[in-house]
Amino acid sequence: MRGLVWTGELEVRDDVELRADEPGAGEVLVRIERAGLCHSDVSVLDGTIPFPTPVVLGHEGAGVVEAVGAGVTKVKAGDHVVLTTLGNCGQCDACDRGEPTHCRDTFGRLPRPFTVGGEKAFQFANLGVFTERTVVRASQAVVIDERVPFEVACLIGCGVVTGTGAVLNRAKVRPGETVAVIGVGGIGLSVVQAARIAAAGRVVAIDSNPAKEAAARQMGATDFTTDLDSVKDLGFPNGFDHVFECVGHPALIRASIGLLDWGGNLVLLGVPKLGTEAAFVVNDLYNDKSIMGCRYGTTRPHHDIPLLVGFYLDGRLKLDEMVSQVYDLADVGTALDDLKNGKLNRGVLAVTPQEN
Ligand SMILES: NC(=O)c1ccc[n+]([C@@H]2O[C@H](COP(=O)([O-])OP(=O)(O)OC[C@H]3O[C@@H](n4cnc5c(N)ncnc54)[C@H](O)[C@@H]3O)[C@@H](O)[C@H]2O)c1
Ligand SMILES: [Zn+2]
Ligand SMILES: [Zn+2]
Repeated sequence: MRGLVWTGELEVRDDVELRADEPGAGEVLVRIERAGLCHSDVSVLDGTIPFPTPVVLGHEGAGVVEAVGAGVTKVKAGDHVVLTTLGNCGQCDACDRGEPTHCRDTFGRLPRPFTVGGEKAFQFANLGVFTERTVVRASQAVVIDERVPFEVACLIGCGVVTGTGAVLNRAKVRPGETVAVIGVGGIGLSVVQAARIAAAGRVVAIDSNPAKEAAARQMGATDFTTDLDSVKDLGFPNGFDHVFECVGHPALIRASIGLLDWGGNLVLLGVPKLGTEAAFVVNDLYNDKSIMGCRYGTTRPHHDIPLLVGFYLDGRLKLDEMVSQVYDLADVGTALDDLKNGKLNRGVLAVTPQEN
């Protein structure tokens, strides 16, 4: 199979294979149609997110179930699915409480369902969707309405679930509350959209790239600026109820705290290099301000993904507009350059070429 593999070098290979012919008990085999390029994949390449090699990259994918293993009843061959990175165990206390992002079994499992050139290979984030077929736990495949094209469905798998979940599940933004979003790539634009859906008050998008203004406003930002230092001058002398940091930079985290109103809340979505520390003046948090981490939109995938699909189908969630370009998998180099040069809301890779 064709696949995008990180071995210490980025390689488009045609010798990626699945180790088993059939999915095992509790597993499903999925043909990947389209997969979004999230910054977290890029973070593997530049060492920001250390990951063992060889690894098949990609963790934002959608496709068709080809086969299911013993005991799988929730999905069947032919179903269209969005894949999620979690694959929570379903049996621990966290799963019992309905908090799958807290399930310890979702992190550090490091499955190796592939071989690359005969050598066992990992799947990034329990998925590895930048190849034609992958095997995942059944709970990682969420059945979706077949009217949703794969090239937009895939985005739900990470960027959209993360950004919208940060607003709706983690921060629980209420009508009228003010929101600042720092960094409006795939994650930040999804934050902006969810703020609009939640009937937030003014939503200010901040991005160092002025070309991001049009998309930010299209998704629901009421204001846009490239100048973080003067955001409060836009009419927020006391700061914001919610700030979302969607870049992963310590200086931006510190600046974000300076943007909080009394009682305000900062959600950290950006992922800086492992071990990064951020400094801030402790007293700045005194007036009931808070800082929250947020993993994967604190999502419950089997609740949130169908909800988001519904929002797409009724026009509230703009996914077609999020896709700037679809590239053939072999053109991933161009997609990475375009992402780096700020040309993309989201780039999508055609993993399995579509027949015309
Ligand atoms: N918490 C999670 O579960 C989770 C999930 C997915 C992605 N992420 C992380 O979220 C971050 C964003 O991912 P993405 O896919 O949206 O990336 P992206 O590359 O699509 O977007 C990043 C945006 O930040 C802007 N930016 C960069 N430096 C800036 C600065 N100094 N000031 C203002 N804007 C700046 C860029 O212009 C771009 O628009 C990454 O760190 C990624 O690893 C976290
Ligand atoms: Zn991601
Ligand atoms: Zn669990």
